[in-house]
Amino acid sequence: MLVPTGEIVAGAVAAGSGVGAFNVITVEHAEAIVAGAEEAGAPVILQVSENAVRFHGNRLAPIAAAAKAVAAASTVPVSLHLDHVERRDLLEQAPEHGFSSVMYDASKLSYVDNVAATTDAAAWGHARGLYIESELGEVGGKDGAHAPGVRTDPGDAARYVAATGVDALAVAVGSSHAMTTRSAALDHALIAALRDAVPVPLVLHGSSGVPDEELERAVRAGMRKINIGTALNVAFTGAVRAGVADGKVVDPRPYLRAGREAMAATVAHFLRLLAGA
Ligand code: G3H
Ligand code: ZN
Repeated sequence: MLVPTGEIVAGAVAAGSGVGAFNVITVEHAEAIVAGAEEAGAPVILQVSENAVRFHGNRLAPIAAAAKAVAAASTVPVSLHLDHVERRDLLEQAPEHGFSSVMYDASKLSYVDNVAATTDAAAWGHARGLYIESELGEVGGKDGAHAPGVRTDPGDAARYVAATGVDALAVAVGSSHAMTTRSAALDHALIAALRDAVPVPLVLHGSSGVPDEELERAVRAGMRKINIGTALNVAFTGAVRAGVADGKVVDPRPYLRAGREAMAATVAHFLRLLAGA
């Protein structure tokens, strides 16, 4: 069933566990994420990034409709989240397409400009019932969110949340986007300091590159929303590569099915891990 993201994250906060938020690129991703969540018996967040919208010809409607239909038919709670939104026009399309939350990403801006843009976006979103996540950890502006070495300062984070009124905060604590090996080392003392300083749930981005044990420790230290994208693509593409290896395949269904099953198994693994951390 389709539920608001705020409800799913609040459940994780109450339980002291983590909720998985997985990136949707194709309809197979949405189907696999929900199948994996049903297998694990856990709620899940389907997130569509601005990047994925760009892939679909800059149209949000087709992939949003697919994700929404898959979510609505699920036996576990599923929410729709719009991820890494830098374009204001995309934020403003969220409500009409069934998204209950948006990660408004002004992290590449300076602290002052990030606060100004995010405060405005959060006010707009809250007036329409959206749950707003944003990111602080690119102070000074660097290329690529959560570049290695960048860290979110707890004092800045507390001031930032108070100023912007966001509902959840993505922080830089050692993870990095698009890693295909699981070798990132997190700063657990910083996670605990951020948890103590910040009154809203913390979000970990770039979680594909974080080893299982590090993810469990991060949840125990206070991470509540765990964003995972690349790990699904590693699983999907690996299965597809094997499925077309003989060079004669024409019908895409067998290898897409294999790719979808590989993603579902990956999702179930992460969700069991996060629930039991
Ligand atoms: O917002 C999306 C996530 O941060 C996914 O990052 O692809 O490195 O797992 P990842
Ligand atoms: Zn991210």
